[in-house]
Amino acid sequence: MASGRGSNLQAIIDASAAGVLDAEVVVVISNNREAYALQRAAESGIPGHHLSNRTHPGPGELDLAMADTLQAYGAEWVVLAGYMKKVGPLTLERFPGRILNIHPALLPEFGGEGMYGRRVHQAVLDAGRKVTGVTIHIVDAEYDRGTILARREVPVLQGDSAESLALRVLDEEHRFLVETLGRLASGELGPP
Ligand code: GRF
Repeated sequence: MASGRGSNLQAIIDASAAGVLDAEVVVVISNNREAYALQRAAESGIPGHHLSNRTHPGPGELDLAMADTLQAYGAEWVVLAGYMKKVGPLTLERFPGRILNIHPALLPEFGGEGMYGRRVHQAVLDAGRKVTGVTIHIVDAEYDRGTILARREVPVLQGDSAESLALRVLDEEHRFLVETLGRLASGELGPP
């Protein structure tokens, strides 16, 4: 599931297609009809769905549509690859411990509501940290709070701006996400 650019989605698609990752992206869901992630899905022949509070305005409707769509395509794992909304209780219940999020900092620090994109990296710089990183965690009902599965450090360099840091972290995200999904697929890393 993705809300925007979808570069992490692309990393999963490419690694799966290349056989580096024993996985298949069966469906892409976005809350944003204009998300480049949906275009990436289309270009790779992967079904894409726009599901949002606009398409499903009633209480619980979106959550149900999401859970049903994921199940209809036989999804076994769900990756929030830059998905900016909370996941509803029904979807969480249908995929217990199997919804992952990738966050561009070392959680539990520098996460939570409103901590996304440039803001995360600016906060790391403002705090004077010499090390930041990438976190992959199980999703629960709160932003960036679920059980941490894996973290990878990325150095903060002297003279870094939020933009230069974001690029270095993103580059690592793509590698680390594929690597971590591979460890989950092989059973080396288990859901808690
Ligand atoms: C990534 O930095 C990810 O960690 C965060 O949102 C960003 C998504 O980037 N959750 P992209 O859409 O995968 O390019």
